[in-house]
Amino acid sequence: MVSHPEQSAYRFDAFPARRDEEGVDPRSDAWLDAVNLGFLVPPASPQHRRRLAGWLAADGAVLDAASPESSRPGALQAPVATFADYGKPLTVAVGRELETHLVVYVTVRPTHRRRGLLRRLMERSLDRAVEAGRPLAALTASEGAIYGRFGFGPATSTVTVVLDSSKPFALAAPLVHSVELVSEEFAAQHSVRVFERFHRSRVGSVGRPSSYPEQTLHPFSPTGDADTAVRYAAAFAADGSVDAVLCYRPSGWTGEPGSIEVVDLVAVDTASELALWDFLAGVDMVDTVTWRHAPVDPVLPWAVTDPDSVRVERRRNAVWLRVLDVVEAFSARGYERDDELLFSVGDPQGYAAGAYRLVVREGVGEVERVAGDVPVDLELDAPTLASLYLGGTEGRAVARSGRMREHTPGAAERFARLLRTESAPYGVTEF
Ligand SMILES: CC(C)(COP(=O)(O)OP(=O)(O)OC[C@H]1O[C@@H](n2cnc3c(N)ncnc32)[C@H](O)[C@@H]1OP(=O)(O)O)[C@@H](O)C(=O)NCCC(=O)NCCS
Repeated sequence: MVSHPEQSAYRFDAFPARRDEEGVDPRSDAWLDAVNLGFLVPPASPQHRRRLAGWLAADGAVLDAASPESSRPGALQAPVATFADYGKPLTVAVGRELETHLVVYVTVRPTHRRRGLLRRLMERSLDRAVEAGRPLAALTASEGAIYGRFGFGPATSTVTVVLDSSKPFALAAPLVHSVELVSEEFAAQHSVRVFERFHRSRVGSVGRPSSYPEQTLHPFSPTGDADTAVRYAAAFAADGSVDAVLCYRPSGWTGEPGSIEVVDLVAVDTASELALWDFLAGVDMVDTVTWRHAPVDPVLPWAVTDPDSVRVERRRNAVWLRVLDVVEAFSARGYERDDELLFSVGDPQGYAAGAYRLVVREGVGEVERVAGDVPVDLELDAPTLASLYLGGTEGRAVARSGRMREHTPGAAERFARLLRTESAPYGVTEF
């Protein structure tokens, strides 16, 4: 690391996000300024600061900040690095959640980079996670090369689905839901309920922060201007229950065919999701509908009679996970086949380091730590363990990638098969 003698010492200050009747407390306010500076966006309006601080406070967020012990006259006084974390449940098996430490708002001012601030803030945060008894940590990354060194591995992915709605649209199976445009209030109320049903049933779903549903229904710019172009629709089952809620943004009518962007789509099942696609395909004066947060196994290309009308593109990593407590994490998740393996985990931060025996009988996993001198079937590192944790079908590729060191021939393939699940892990929460 490069030494910067004039500014080598930093003060670290972790505090709860606070907002009261009077407004945002000064520390939270300075921290919010530093965040917008870090993300290269203008400062938030006073009203939006109150909103942001209120959401963070409601989530019980701990804000962390680094400030130089001394700075040059004239240097901006806001913190030079920011970090925040709070707990939310992650679905690790149908109906089973683990409290997960979400890492958000990571910024380091350009003039203070590469001095170990991210490392210090991350170490402090992961220690807080362990103190809070959270067996997993999660984040979303702007760049893939940053977080592996802290034990994070990509664990869920999404794709972009683009429907060419200028072509005739027909579904292979009859619809069972009807769709109506709904008010913002109705969408807000029902998107929370529909999300709860979705969340319980989908491995990889992260509980939504307090910014939902407000932030989705009124997407705010970083300064706090509400996007008023969004519209809402809901899919109703025959008994009148709401099974899916859609928030979408039409590009507007300019004389040329326009487009629609799906901002948020939460559905409890495929039938209700397809009803929303049928609605979207039928909007006149639009020739493309784009959803950037679709699961990697989207059903739409198979549900339409013309598969060429749907493009699936731009697969990207979504949630990065970090296993902090191997025994708790691997005892909680579900398994679709039985086997037994001994594996050891390399972890420079130490949280997951050690050797473990995983025994799965009738889909129930039992994990115990074993002494370090017991011969293991395979060795892997913390990011690889995290990438395999939620299952999906990619484990076989991970097994062949050379990321695991086998001591028993075929152990990597067996481990990946044991952790594999039919459904790809997926969530509709952005954090
Ligand atoms: C990414 C960022 C947070 C790094 O902060 P930093 O304080 O410079 O990082 P550190 O000095 O603590 O570096 C920690 C390690 O990460 C590495 N690293 C830092 N930035 C990196 C990058 N962009 N790509 C790859 N590695 C990176 C460092 O080399 C160092 O590695 P080492 O400890 O193994 O030698 C900072 O550059 C930043 O704020 N970027 C803009 C906002 C952003 O991208 N935030 C992340 C949102 S997910």
